[in-house]
Amino acid sequence: MSSKKKTCIVLGVTGGIAAYKACELLRLLQKRGMDVYVVMTKHACQFVAPLTFETLSGHPVAVDTFERPATWEVEHIALAKRADLFLIAPATANIIGKMACGIADDMLSTTVMATKAPVMIAPAMNTGMWENPATQQNIATLVSRGVHVVTPATGHLACGDSGAGKLEDVSVIAERAIAILEKKKDMLGLRVMVTAGPTREALDPVRYISNRSSGKMGYAIARAAMERGAEVTLLTGPVAIQPPQGVRVIPFMTTQDLLERALENVSGQDIIIQSAAPADYRAKEIAPQKIKKQGGTDMIIELAENPDVAATLGKNKRADQTFVGFAAETNDVLAHAKGKLEKKNLDMIVANDVTAPGAGFDVNTNIVTLITKEDMLSLPLMSKDDVADQILSGVLKLRK
Ligand code: PMT
Repeated sequence: MSSKKKTCIVLGVTGGIAAYKACELLRLLQKRGMDVYVVMTKHACQFVAPLTFETLSGHPVAVDTFERPATWEVEHIALAKRADLFLIAPATANIIGKMACGIADDMLSTTVMATKAPVMIAPAMNTGMWENPATQQNIATLVSRGVHVVTPATGHLACGDSGAGKLEDVSVIAERAIAILEKKKDMLGLRVMVTAGPTREALDPVRYISNRSSGKMGYAIARAAMERGAEVTLLTGPVAIQPPQGVRVIPFMTTQDLLERALENVSGQDIIIQSAAPADYRAKEIAPQKIKKQGGTDMIIELAENPDVAATLGKNKRADQTFVGFAAETNDVLAHAKGKLEKKNLDMIVANDVTAPGAGFDVNTNIVTLITKEDMLSLPLMSKDDVADQILSGVLKLRK
């Protein structure tokens, strides 16, 4: 018999009608070889008896009770440490609100706060509660902290309403959980070049034209590709974040620099993902000294057009290479993105409306649509880490 420790999922069950579906979820996870420990809130026990989960899991169920204070304190830390993944399904608006605000006042909320494992929640509630701005803001907060959210399905709800808020199919939740645990090394042997961050186009020795790109999107892609086994080259503009360990980092400052670094490296790459935000224009002349005030008159700076890096690379793309670009748009997002897919000879373009809350520049989340010549996939708000994984999975699908 193998003595290898099984992967452990701590399953938090909160008080909603969908609590009974957590029994089936537990069984599915066990079938995939997971050892499942259950934590229930007091309200969850109104829907399903702890004995059911105890019998199914083969472990004592931790319930929100202060009747056994001696074990309570120890138990929540032990469970938090045991978890390889912490999954809360169904997750009510209440637990989501507590997690977002850092409230730890019962067994489940203290345990999830103590864990260092990845956390995933599968919300289920009435449509009005799900759509309430408070819930949506709490979800956005959790996503920005790296919590994986399985967006609820739309359908007929137990309360009689129809709309969003139904617990996603338990088989989908189980698959998402397993995918997080078994982050596949499905990019072994592939060389990936990622561009990230802004450019700076000098006006004089102290001033420059730039934009709000933080590099977070590109760095998330570089990290995800490396974790999936790829050999990663990261071309980065000036940003304030640390590159992931293990990737080859090549800095650039201007769009011309980026073009040169990209051209030097492009032939050795299988996949190129261009999330950088290069300036389209630079000053025609860079003043050698700090520009002085014009004594009350307006100043005109003449700009020259920069090269289009993606379009230049696209011209010499080989059949075995896959090129991905981004489209940062503020209006007619999909139409503009499709135009760029074509014009820059890309295989995929990742369209983001940079005016949407939680999307685009400098935030930890994004809302994107992946567009290829044949297909279009609109994704909900998710962390840039999750967006990165979705892009990479899309790229691998294209290369099959
Ligand atoms: O860095 P973050 O703060 O995380 O923000 C992420 C992001 C908003 C920068 C990112 O999601 C994004 O949208 N990146 C693309 C920014 C951009 O320049 O978009 P664009 O629509 O102007 O350009 C289209 C494509 O052409 C991009 O792949 C871009 O890298 C490329 N391009 C643009 C101009 C240029 N002169 N040369 C190029 O190669």
